[in-house]
Amino acid sequence: MLKFDLLKSDPATADGSYLGSHARRGQLTLNHGVIQTPIFMPVGTYGTVKGVTPQSLLDMNAQIILGNTFHLWMRPGLDVVKQFGGLHAFEKWDKPILTDSGGFQVWSLGEMRKISEEGVKFSSPVNGDKLFLTPEISMQIQTILNSDIAMQFDECTPYLSVEPKTKGQITTEREARSSMELSLRWAARCKTEFARLENPNALFGIVQGGMFEHLRDESLAGLEALDFPGIAIGGLSVGEPKEDMLRLLKHVGPKLPAHKPHYLMGVGTPEDLIAGVQNGIDMFDCVMPTRNARNGTLFSRYGDLKIRNARHKTDERPIDESCTCYACAGSPTAAGSLSWEQGGRAGFSRAYLHHLDRCGEMLGPMLASVHNLHYYLSLMQDIRDALDAGTFGAFVAQFNTDRARGV
Ligand code: GUN
Ligand code: ZN
Repeated sequence: MLKFDLLKSDPATADGSYLGSHARRGQLTLNHGVIQTPIFMPVGTYGTVKGVTPQSLLDMNAQIILGNTFHLWMRPGLDVVKQFGGLHAFEKWDKPILTDSGGFQVWSLGEMRKISEEGVKFSSPVNGDKLFLTPEISMQIQTILNSDIAMQFDECTPYLSVEPKTKGQITTEREARSSMELSLRWAARCKTEFARLENPNALFGIVQGGMFEHLRDESLAGLEALDFPGIAIGGLSVGEPKEDMLRLLKHVGPKLPAHKPHYLMGVGTPEDLIAGVQNGIDMFDCVMPTRNARNGTLFSRYGDLKIRNARHKTDERPIDESCTCYACAGSPTAAGSLSWEQGGRAGFSRAYLHHLDRCGEMLGPMLASVHNLHYYLSLMQDIRDALDAGTFGAFVAQFNTDRARGV
């Protein structure tokens, strides 16, 4: 089941305050709940958002999280997930889950895989077993996981060619076309198998086509003919220069079917999310908030902060004075989760987080992950509020000013 209600679109107002962007406010109803869009979806590859409890995700208002077909197929394996009746009960998350199909992850194995019309042969990175993943098997796995949104099995066209003769050069039009066409044929097989399995959830198609606008158009037309309930843009943030990512986002985003949800896969920085929303994207996921947290890079309203830097050694301020997350403002029950700016003093200091990092203490990346996810989720909440209020243009201007200020 999937129902998408467009609450607000074509937002160019008479006074121009919306900058005539393609931004939309929507509501997506899935089998495990209703989510407000635009939305950021924390990544929980192995059935866990790394270092963050489900309770903590609820506290920061996460509405939907990701899981991964490929990883969960490897470990714990389908029998275990089946025993629990699906991924929700196994990982103790009863709100919506979206699972990626495994296409991107198998692709990331590089040399270890062999692609044919039928599917992808590869050696298990866990135990070396020879495995075969096909569009049908991906649908069967995602049916057992019972994710609210399943993704088609696709081939993520690389930015740099993997063809032996041209290896390391930018993927040619011919290579990108054949990859895109394969993904379209796989999309049709996914749709058939998903229906045959009577999966009660929703299946999204993925636009490919590499760095070529006309191939992206052909991919989109092919997917529209298959009439998926939602459409994703894949094959971006795969090593291409930022200007190429933005060029394709601007080309494809506004062309996506208006009455279906639009998902930009694996992108990106806070600035990229704003650009995505401006180009009609409703859903985002990225490992950046959690991965950066583990590397000691913290996002904030006023720019990014490297907690490893010695200048934080004695700094009593929290990561972000305006943040109301547990790391910055303490427990929501203490002092009503006031930010530092609001007079709250319950959060952790930069000095303490710097100390945890220096000692390699687990709590360091845990607090950093809570903060970074809270930053991404509240950025999306602020975007939704601005869209509701008709002040998105002004919001973007303020966002840019704040981010340039520095921490
Ligand atoms: N995650 C980021 N990009 C992609 C993509 O192109 N395909 C899939 N399946 N997942 C992705
Ligand atoms: Zn915070």
